Amino acid sequence: MNYQKILNTISSEVSCKNSTGKVASYIPELAKIEAEKFGMHLYCVNSGHYGFGDHQERFSIQSISKVFALTLTMSLLDDELFKRVDVEPSGDPFNSLVQLEYEQGIPRNPFINAGALVISDILISHLANPKKDFLEFIHDITDNNTIIINPKVFQSEKKYSHRNAALLNLMKSFGNIKNDIEIVLDFYIYQCAIEMSCMEIATAFMIYVNGGKKMTTNKSILSHHKVKRINAIMQTCGFYDEAGEFSFRVGLPGKSGVGGGIAAVHPGQYAVTVWSPPLNPKGNSELGMYALERLTTLTGLSIF
Ligand code: DON
Repeated sequence: MNYQKILNTISSEVSCKNSTGKVASYIPELAKIEAEKFGMHLYCVNSGHYGFGDHQERFSIQSISKVFALTLTMSLLDDELFKRVDVEPSGDPFNSLVQLEYEQGIPRNPFINAGALVISDILISHLANPKKDFLEFIHDITDNNTIIINPKVFQSEKKYSHRNAALLNLMKSFGNIKNDIEIVLDFYIYQCAIEMSCMEIATAFMIYVNGGKKMTTNKSILSHHKVKRINAIMQTCGFYDEAGEFSFRVGLPGKSGVGGGIAAVHPGQYAVTVWSPPLNPKGNSELGMYALERLTTLTGLSIF
């Protein structure tokens, strides 16, 4: 497979396309990102790295961090975790409150904000230094200890986190948040403010391609069985109320973030990350989805 040739084709196709999407502005610091940024990076199990555009520039990973948080939590806990967060698609926006009331404070899945907040709560209960330990986990899976948060994005989201605070309060009223709300919110916003490049995210996502093992050292981060489950949750819940559309068009397990990133995997084949800040109305990168649809079409390599 000539991945670089295919990526070059996608690069020229994307440059002819006008995006109607909007850069996220509800976190004011994210609104400052140039809408024209575009990067794509593919890491193949057999043949290594391919990329183009701004694929080595770091951006705010936002909700892509939810996959790393779930991975770290699943490495610490077994099935008891799923008593506090379900594994069903929500069909609702990522920050919706409505289902929580009907479903007694149990979030539909770990990738909507409510579910990720429960995961943050669990990590706080289990880690000695949650922020440091989480960052060290990212350093481990990427073999890169220069990855850090953007403090401006962190402070910016802290000022506008009323909806996440509302989710936490509602879940706390049902007994599904054990720690102090301010502490959970602070840790959740911290993990979202991590910055990584497409290349770094694709490198981290190789554990979901390679049966839970790092490519570089073959160190096992998670069992094959647990990786299978994470990939299933990415497939069904990674794009909120657009999970069906992403499956339909792209056909890979993946996860998006409001920073404009999308990471996706073809187990056994490759991890791919794309970054384009303008988002469609469902909060997913518009051109990112297009580029990934072209990738699975041109390669014939989707999981379906
Ligand atoms: O909690 C939030 O709203 C953001 N920190 C993350 C949301 C996000 O990335 C949703 N993804 N598409």
